[in-house]
Amino acid sequence: MDWKELEEQCRECMACQLGETRTNLVFGTGSRTADIMLVGEGPGEQEDLQGEPFVGRAGQLLDDMLKIIRLDRGENVYIANIVKCRPPGNRDPLSDEQSACVGWLREQFKLVRPKIVVCLGRIAAGVIIKPDFKITREHGQWFEKNGVWFTAIYHPSALLRDPGKRPETFVDLKSIQRKAVELGARI
Ligand code: URA
Repeated sequence: MDWKELEEQCRECMACQLGETRTNLVFGTGSRTADIMLVGEGPGEQEDLQGEPFVGRAGQLLDDMLKIIRLDRGENVYIANIVKCRPPGNRDPLSDEQSACVGWLREQFKLVRPKIVVCLGRIAAGVIIKPDFKITREHGQWFEKNGVWFTAIYHPSALLRDPGKRPETFVDLKSIQRKAVELGARI
């Protein structure tokens, strides 16, 4: 499938109940040829209204964090979510919603072919890295699968709620930068 086909099909998706309440489907944004891909959980209110991932308060913080390691959604990173439609009231996406949606993300992976995948928060890490992922213990650790390197950092919303987690996240961001240099990833 190419990007056009994938996006068109995804925009029509009614595979779970979230399709009934979305304003906009939030497909993904950034460079489709990036070496680094970020995966969040699911759209919030602003994302649902604007149709783009991470455009609310957490998104502003994410952009600031990315800047520290010279990543920019306009240039060298692709950003998507586990679920493409907003869970009502910003609840966590249910496991059947995650399973109904993750195929779209798999297709996005196949097209972007990133060298590094950064999961933003527990939900994304649980789907992408391993089901029992413990974000407090395992953030910043590296996992390799088929030549692709995976890690997770705290979700920017968690950092807004608890700024005490920011120093650890700074360390994790620096580790991502080092891994990118090691792998020759464009940064
Ligand atoms: N939180 C997410 O996980 N994804 C978004 O797109 C916005 C907020």
